[in-house]
Amino acid sequence: MNSNERQARFDFAKSLILKAGSLAHDYFERREALTIEHKGLQDVVSIADKAVEQLIRDELATAFSKDGFLGEEDAERDIANFSANATSHIWVVDPIDGTALFLNGIPSWCISIALLVDGEIQLGLIYDPCNNELFAAQKGLGALLNDKPISIADAQSVKDGMIGVGFSHRVKPNTCLHFLEHLLNDGGMYVRSGSGALSLAYVAAGRLIGYYEPHINAWDCLAGILLIEEAGGWVDDFLSGNGLAQGNPILCGAKPLKPVMSDYCLPE
Ligand code: IPD
Ligand code: CA
Ligand code: CA
Repeated sequence: MNSNERQARFDFAKSLILKAGSLAHDYFERREALTIEHKGLQDVVSIADKAVEQLIRDELATAFSKDGFLGEEDAERDIANFSANATSHIWVVDPIDGTALFLNGIPSWCISIALLVDGEIQLGLIYDPCNNELFAAQKGLGALLNDKPISIADAQSVKDGMIGVGFSHRVKPNTCLHFLEHLLNDGGMYVRSGSGALSLAYVAAGRLIGYYEPHINAWDCLAGILLIEEAGGWVDDFLSGNGLAQGNPILCGAKPLKPVMSDYCLPE
């Protein structure tokens, strides 16, 4: 993909995520009327997630018909599709990240769109419609919040700020508890926002000094990973093994925190 092709996709994705944000926000304002379905333990979804994903899927398919797509709400079918076609460009999308917050009226959720090209994240965009904040990055060109450059926190120790910690019932609680016990023993502090994607954007913006989650999916984190790398932070190799299709742990933050945060994780 040459730089013009990438810029065209970035510009398109920027206006698309704002449009998707506006649709999601309309649903948010009338969320009492939404029927909630349960996908698993503490894992909810509504028509809002599906409609926003459909909008993004349709618009990308029209504009870039050869590109592949992986969205949370139809992930199994999407994975089978791009695997079968050996697709080089794959858009990886979470239509609403922080769905439990969204459905409970907490204005801290977002939309996440990333573009993977031959296994490398080239574009990452995260939009928080309730606060009108758009985090966006292109590989090699830095990370932006509402078009202004952002950078990772200047943290030398876990005592220098707050670390986001995510958890889902896809894994056993001890993974998370082990990390928390060590972090707190060292005088650190944690935040669990309920939106992994937005937490990663906050790491890129220097609001959090790091983030850990024992299992996260690609649609939750690819855009955030690029934002953090472009903002000068460190992220472990999330895509190793079959991370794209099956997810992996994620550990990231300010570079000086890498050894100590790695030590807090339960050995695999
Ligand atoms: C979830 C959120 C949550 C994280 C989970 C995700 P969803 O995504 O990002 O913070 O801990 O791993 O599944 O269901 O709100 O899109
Ligand atoms: Ca998600
Ligand atoms: Ca979601």
